[in-house]
This record gives sequence, C-alpha cells and structure tokens, in this order.
Amino acid sequence: MSALRELYQEVILDHGKTPRNFGRLEQPTGCSHGHNPLCGDTVTIYLKIKDGVVDDITFEGRGCAISMASASMMTEILKGKTVAEVQQMFERFHGLVTTGEQACEGGFDIADLDKLVVLAGVREFPMRVKCATLAWHTLKAALEGKQKEVTVE
Ligand code: FES
Repeated sequence: MSALRELYQEVILDHGKTPRNFGRLEQPTGCSHGHNPLCGDTVTIYLKIKDGVVDDITFEGRGCAISMASASMMTEILKGKTVAEVQQMFERFHGLVTTGEQACEGGFDIADLDKLVVLAGVREFPMRVKCATLAWHTLKAALEGKQKEVTVE
C-alpha cells in the first residue's frame, strides 16, 4: 500500500473513531435524517444558520468508518461558510467522489476541498460512494428545510 493511501486510511479511521462535532444541536434552524437502505446506517444533521452563515453544525448517527468520517470532516469544514459556499462545496464534493471532476468554481478556500480528497478513493466502489455522500445529501435536505428522511440509492 502506498504511503499516501495509508495516510488517507489513517485520517478516515481517526475521524471514524473520534468523530468531531458529534451530538445533538439545541434549536437548530435545519435538521434532517439520512438513511442508507443497503446497510441500515443512519445520520442526522443539525444545522444552525445565522445571517446566511453556518453558525453551528453537528451530527449524530451510526455507520461505517467512511460514513462517520465523511460526516465528521464535513461538519469541520462547513462551520463559518455561507449557504452559497455550502452548496458549491456539495457540488464539488459530489464530483470528487463520483466522476473525479470538481464542477463549479467556489469562492472558498481550496484547502478545504483538499482535506476531503482522502475520500476520493471511494469512487472506484459504487457502494462506498453512498457511504461518503450520505451525510452530504442529508445536509442538503437540512439546508432546504426538509424534515423527511433522505435515502441514498
Ligand atoms: Fe453503511 Fe457505509 S456501510 S453507510
């Protein structure tokens, strides 16, 4: 295994074992529940938007190391971002883990996207793409104010 791949695995395992921003958020402005029907894993995203900016974001859930690491990294990166930046980041992350293309230019710090590159390897494994995108699809629903359950299919 290459040193880079080992490093990526370490980052994923670290976030998977010790997820950041894990827990319920009191009085969120958006909250959504995501579910992967293939494995039964779940994630709930709590979001607090203040003046068009992500003031706070947390998650709860139960799932594989990739899904938990993806949710953990996502919450770390999105705090302090504007809603427009979050939407751009969603598009770019989705491109990164599906086609490898990062559609749409964003005004955010490119270093944030670099942190997510550790998850890019999942695009070779369609089942794993769902693990990596579960939290992001759930976040999108929370942003849109949807309370219904989101599934990745
Ligand atoms: Fe269930 Fe990854 S195996 S989300």
